[in-house]
Amino acid sequence: YDYDLLVVGSANADLVIGVERRPAAGETVLGSDLAVHPGGKGANQAVAAARLGARTALLARVGDDAHGRLLLDSQRAAGVDTVGVLVGGAPTGVALITVDPSGDNSIVVSPGANGRLAAQDVRAAASLFQASKVVSVQLEIPLETVVEVVRSLADGSRFVLNPSPPRPLPAEVLAACDPLIVNEHEAKVILGDSAVGETPEDWARILLAKGPRSVVVTLGAEGALVASAQGVTRIASVRVDAVDTTGAGDAFTAALAWKLGTGSALAEAAAYAARVGAVAVTRQGAQVSFPTAAEVEAL
Ligand code: RIB
Ligand code: NA
Repeated sequence: YDYDLLVVGSANADLVIGVERRPAAGETVLGSDLAVHPGGKGANQAVAAARLGARTALLARVGDDAHGRLLLDSQRAAGVDTVGVLVGGAPTGVALITVDPSGDNSIVVSPGANGRLAAQDVRAAASLFQASKVVSVQLEIPLETVVEVVRSLADGSRFVLNPSPPRPLPAEVLAACDPLIVNEHEAKVILGDSAVGETPEDWARILLAKGPRSVVVTLGAEGALVASAQGVTRIASVRVDAVDTTGAGDAFTAALAWKLGTGSALAEAAAYAARVGAVAVTRQGAQVSFPTAAEVEAL
């Protein structure tokens, strides 16, 4: 394989304002100076993996505008192969993000060009799929595009999905996941009524019964659960002072996907990914906060 990881997904300009608290409907609050950072769950994953040392490619779509150039520059600076980044069709995606004093964020995404990343674009990138050991996807792109990704996987390559933002998934997509990676909110949306009254361990088991070969449930400060035919294992969290959690989940997913491709077992890969995510939350921004392998070792 030429690439350890191919990420198919979104690229957004993150417009970030720090707030003491979020405004209620009809209310205005004053926040910090504006920061504009490269973001988007797909672009974030690609940068996170490349910074750790993975040979990484991104299949995405940005607009022919300044935000698109910001995103391409960030990918290239991290060493991501951008041969699969398409330009044009709509403005670059934008995420309006508020970050509160505890480091938690709220995000509204305007998909823009991400919404035009089409099944046809996936078919046209067949050579990238043939060259990639692991393929990772999120849900800020159209669902038809995700379905086409599943149908384009090379024999023997591994598919990793973080269904964010969550929506119900076709059986064909669920069955391909190894693993499906969800946080608490995503698990509840995908499980619907069957999540009610159940513990996270139960969610992991019920999700696994829906078809994925493996499942990871991330639980923030409570760590994570990994589930496969071998059973459910808890992964401890790494305690750090959170400054900005934006993109930490993307860094976790990218690190996990890459480690699985190098032959790590699921629990081992998740423990490493938790350390990567922990470094990311101690710094402002998404891509700009992701660590190198040496910084993960130093944690
Ligand atoms: O997961 C974090 C990302 O979500 C941000 O970078 C923002 O662009 C949204 O896509
Ligand atoms: Na961060």
